[in-house]
Amino acid sequence: MTDAPDAPPTGDESSEQVVTPWDVEGKDGEGIDYDKLVRDFGCSTIDEKMIERIERVTGVRAHPFLRRGMFFAHRELDVILDAYERGEKFYLYTGRGPSSESLHLGHLIPFHFTKWLQDAFKVPLVIQLTDDEKFLWKDLTLEECGRLARENAKDIIACGFDPKRTFIFSDVQYMSTPLYQNMMKIAKCVTLNQVRGIFGFTGESNIGQVGFPPTQAAPSFPDCFPHMFGESKTSLRCLIPCAIDQDPYFRMTRDVAPRIGGYKPALIESRFFPALKGESGKMSASDATSAIYVTDTPKEIKSKVNKYAFSGGQLTVEDHRRLGGDLNTDISWKWLNFFLDDDEELAKIGEEYSSGRMLSGEIKAKLIETLIPICQGHQEAREMVTEETIDAFMSTQPRVFASLFGGMGDVAGALDESVASNAKPGVAIGAPEPEGPMKKQQDKAQTGEDGGQMSKSQMKKLLKEQQIAEKKRAKAEAKAAAAAAAAAD
Ligand code: TYM
Repeated sequence: MTDAPDAPPTGDESSEQVVTPWDVEGKDGEGIDYDKLVRDFGCSTIDEKMIERIERVTGVRAHPFLRRGMFFAHRELDVILDAYERGEKFYLYTGRGPSSESLHLGHLIPFHFTKWLQDAFKVPLVIQLTDDEKFLWKDLTLEECGRLARENAKDIIACGFDPKRTFIFSDVQYMSTPLYQNMMKIAKCVTLNQVRGIFGFTGESNIGQVGFPPTQAAPSFPDCFPHMFGESKTSLRCLIPCAIDQDPYFRMTRDVAPRIGGYKPALIESRFFPALKGESGKMSASDATSAIYVTDTPKEIKSKVNKYAFSGGQLTVEDHRRLGGDLNTDISWKWLNFFLDDDEELAKIGEEYSSGRMLSGEIKAKLIETLIPICQGHQEAREMVTEETIDAFMSTQPRVFASLFGGMGDVAGALDESVASNAKPGVAIGAPEPEGPMKKQQDKAQTGEDGGQMSKSQMKKLLKEQQIAEKKRAKAEAKAAAAAAAAAD
């Protein structure tokens, strides 16, 4: 492989802990050694300076997942920030393998964080649902995986993504010429020996599994989505938020990227939200007692936390008062670190519990009190997601390229009909052309007609035009609905 800094060791030969997209296990049933993982994988850690820089360029306070070190590693995030400061835009790409009816709390971590990134940087997002991957790996039919993909899409949409800037797709449904072309170009660059080294495939792996990695790699290139980003492979850089288990896919992608004429995707990677029964790995969808699902009721949450949450408390109250709780192993403490927003309250709980003043039952009660409104809020948001909402997020209707970014987010539809009718079918309106310097084209897409930066009055004019177009559209819809109702009578 050509990309020396990103190249394996994969961890498999040199360590006893296993972290792949399908298996996460610490050494001897212990927690994951993240320092070792960063060394083995060859990524970089996120330091205070980088967090400050993110706050500076976005003007937004860092998300608790960043401040508290949950998102702790990256690949070339600095390159994304440099480009962003120069005025170049990027898009976000993340995903979900739909293998269960609903998401567990661990899955919420990347999606909540991605939502924050989308709002802070004001950038578009694509979300891949790998129904094909789950079909190849699990004992599920392809049709069932497709159904689960739509179910999971509801949970993902409930996280609050901006429909104007977000495209959700199932591999099976979206498979299209641009996506397939990218997959083929990637596949040709990677040998069987390489995927064996990266993913640990064996002679027993089915050939669908061996051939799958390019499918997850391809969305790192914007020309997979002409209706969002146009047909240029370098129109935008890509930033991928995920837990570190997905890193192998993107090590491979970064290695291939220059050879197919694309930018290497950047990554921002999290630790694992630990299983309820203890920090020895990822939560399992097949063991309901290892996880809390976003669809769990308050009663289920209470019962699971009280019964199964691994406690770092001492065996007797006397010992606990004397020795205090162990913050390194206590799951309630660890989960509160992810989900309790208030920094001061969190610090106080840590102090009280580790000094023995707070008992194990009390920290569990605090966790239950924190999780119930999160799950209830999620369920309410999920209830609002209709089949039409999912269709809108999955629509391949061309978008207005400029409207996907920054302060221009509100001018979707502002381009007049003549511009829209001149656009290439299926291609985002105003997207950069395939050739030519990216920066110039991006600037063009986001500037006024005269090529200068769009002035306030130009923006106002566009907004006004949009409002008029919106009113016209609503009027036409109402008229059509009235006509349909009259015909039905
Ligand atoms: P999947 O469905 O296993 O996981 C979805 C996302 O959740 C992350 N994740 C976790 N994060 C924190 N703590 C945990 N315990 C935990 N368990 C899972 C995963 O890292 C992932 O970000 N093949 C992928 C789907 C995919 C994808 C992508 C993921 C397709 N394209 C691009 C990330 C980026 C999968 O099966 O994820």
